[in-house]
Amino acid sequence: MGAMSTRATEAAGAPAPGARRFPDGFVWGVSTSSHQIEGGNANNDWWDFEHDPHSGCLEPSGDACDSRHRWPEDIALVSGMGLSAYRFSLEWSRIEPAEGEFSAAEIDAYRRMCARCREQGVIPAITFNHYTMPLWLYRRGGWEAPEATDRFVRLCERANQGIGDLIGMAVTLNEPNVMGVMGYTQGEHPPGVKDLTRHLAINDVLIAAHRKTVDALRAGPGDYPIGMGLSMAELHADPGGEVVQEASEEILENNFLRGAAGDDFVGVQCYTRLHLGPEGEAPADPEVPKTQMGYEFWPQALEYCVRRTAAYTGLPVVVTENGIGTDDDTERIRYLSEALDGLHRCVEDGIDVRGYFVWTLLDNFEWTHGYGPKFGIHSVDRTTFERREKPSARWFSQVARANALPPAQA
Ligand code: BGC
Repeated sequence: MGAMSTRATEAAGAPAPGARRFPDGFVWGVSTSSHQIEGGNANNDWWDFEHDPHSGCLEPSGDACDSRHRWPEDIALVSGMGLSAYRFSLEWSRIEPAEGEFSAAEIDAYRRMCARCREQGVIPAITFNHYTMPLWLYRRGGWEAPEATDRFVRLCERANQGIGDLIGMAVTLNEPNVMGVMGYTQGEHPPGVKDLTRHLAINDVLIAAHRKTVDALRAGPGDYPIGMGLSMAELHADPGGEVVQEASEEILENNFLRGAAGDDFVGVQCYTRLHLGPEGEAPADPEVPKTQMGYEFWPQALEYCVRRTAAYTGLPVVVTENGIGTDDDTERIRYLSEALDGLHRCVEDGIDVRGYFVWTLLDNFEWTHGYGPKFGIHSVDRTTFERREKPSARWFSQVARANALPPAQA
């Protein structure tokens, strides 16, 4: 993978005695996605889904964080924290609002964002697809339409022509494994289907789409590391759940991890632990506190998933998302800090971990759950869109600037 040099680590002062350092050049960033922060993405599948009274969505995305207009503020926040990377996604429905009609102005808008990042010493980490697709393709069957992969690859090629020279790192698809399970088995994301056979077919489509996208991006301008962002969890077998655990690991993660062969890195996105019993997903451990998402508060999952990914694939790992939905920012700091303790143990054991991105910069549109869950290290006023730093932003900034965690508590 090409070097992802980092301003923050270069500028780091002498670490405190006993500080737990990360490797030189380690990337510290925050992740976001277009539909969750831009606002007004009325021409995509998610907008359609969130306005469908039967979808189970709690509220529509509306103006989101108005990052469509306020992206300079967002980048200033990232740069002001001394972070080395900002991960954001391209909104396909803006770039190609009708089939084959590409918007030069929209590509240029993303180019200006990349350029602003570069001016401020921040690596633009581009996600080519973070769940959403244009309505014209959704109405034709979405990822089940025979032409979907070709259309996506073409979109990536066109966008890459416009911004590839500025990209510092790329994620092809965000969590294709979640698009599969949530869209086609659990029915909680578009297209709201509950059919395992279709889910398995979509998994294959998305893995193939990823591979074709990697080839297409490598053939275009720019020279940057490419991977996919995979949703990973500590999948725990409760008594009698071993067979289900193994099957789940295969369908949800392993087939995608094999699909990463040849990539520059695997993007691990991790939030919690899940229990599997003989009948499928089993209840969470009542002894473990729950987050706003109903997940177990389980920061240990990150270490587990990073170790497993590295061992399974032999590839470098970038933690492209890790975070917690909570109203209590002290709890967020505790979660992030414990997750990073585990990540540092991975580094100490020689695992090739290249970077860590917090999910997320701003409180934003949490898909089916609307604006309830607070994953941001900044709050956003829902009327004025004013961004306000939370203590976790200051805390994370200190870690990034030092490129180290404080000494371990005895
Ligand atoms: C997704 C994000 C989402 C986050 C928190 C990840 O699975 O990539 O879009 O907001 O988890 O639930």
